[in-house]
Parts: sequence; structure tokens; C-alpha cells
Amino acid sequence: MRILIIHGPNLNLLGRREPGVYGVQTLPQIDAQLQELAEKMNVELKIAQFNSEGEIISFIGDNADWADGIVINPAAYTHTSVAIRDAIAAVELPTVEVHLSNVFGREEFRHFSYISPVATGVICGFGAGSYVLALEAIVRTINMSDRN
Ligand code: DQA
Repeated sequence: MRILIIHGPNLNLLGRREPGVYGVQTLPQIDAQLQELAEKMNVELKIAQFNSEGEIISFIGDNADWADGIVINPAAYTHTSVAIRDAIAAVELPTVEVHLSNVFGREEFRHFSYISPVATGVICGFGAGSYVLALEAIVRTINMSDRN
């Protein structure tokens, strides 16, 4: 099984970025944790972080045939990007939208997501743990669909 892990803008700054909201773990630390879990589950990951919308869209399209599923934290693009939503809809892969923070407990503009309607599901509010739960959720989703 092959999964894309996509981190959106400013997530490269985790650790120093608003630690009260996003926690103290750095992105390399989160990625290492995901890699360790993936190996236990016999899953192959391709992990990338992009600050620009176009790079996220190209990465999704370029890997459409490689991947069985997507875990994506679109970060601020969650609330603005029709284009990322369209890319996810286009490739028709099971997709988990993930957020470190509980976006519903924050500013009103973070309550709306362009991505959620085309995602299989959404996990938010568990800090770095959100990514762990998201990886488990996507593997489970793909395993269930394989059985049908
Ligand atoms: C975020 C939440 C977004 O609203 C914000 O713009 C981010 C990070 C999260 O992981 O909690 O950059 O996606």
C-alpha cells in the first residue's frame, strides 16, 4: 500500500510556529513518527511539504497512479483553495484531511473547508497525533475497500 503525506504552507515552521496552537514537535519529528508507524503497517509513504498551491496540485496529479490514498494537511489553503479540492476530486483516491489544531474552536474563517466535501473524512484537534490517526484511518479505509 502506498500513501502520500502532504503538508501545506508554513508547516515547515512547526516547532517554532505558535507552539501553543500547533505544539512543539517539528515536521521532521512528525514525519519520522509516521515513517515508523508505516513500516509497522507495511505501508510505503511519500512525504512532502510545499508552501505554494501549485506545487501541491502538481504533486497530487503526478502521483495519482503511484498512490492508493492521500493524507493531506492543506493548512491555510483548506479555507481558500478550489484548485486543491479539484485536484483531490480528480484523482479519485481516498483522502483524509488532517489538522493539528481544532479548527472549529478557532476563528470563524477556519470553520469552512473547501477540501472536506471531497475527503473521505477529517481528523483535527489532536496535535501531531492527528497525523497518526489520519494514517491509521486511510490504511483502514483502503483495506476495507479492498475487501469489497
Ligand atoms: C492547520 C489549520 C489551518 O487553519 C492553518 O491555516 C494551518 C494549520 C492545522 O493543522 O491546524 O496552517 O491546517
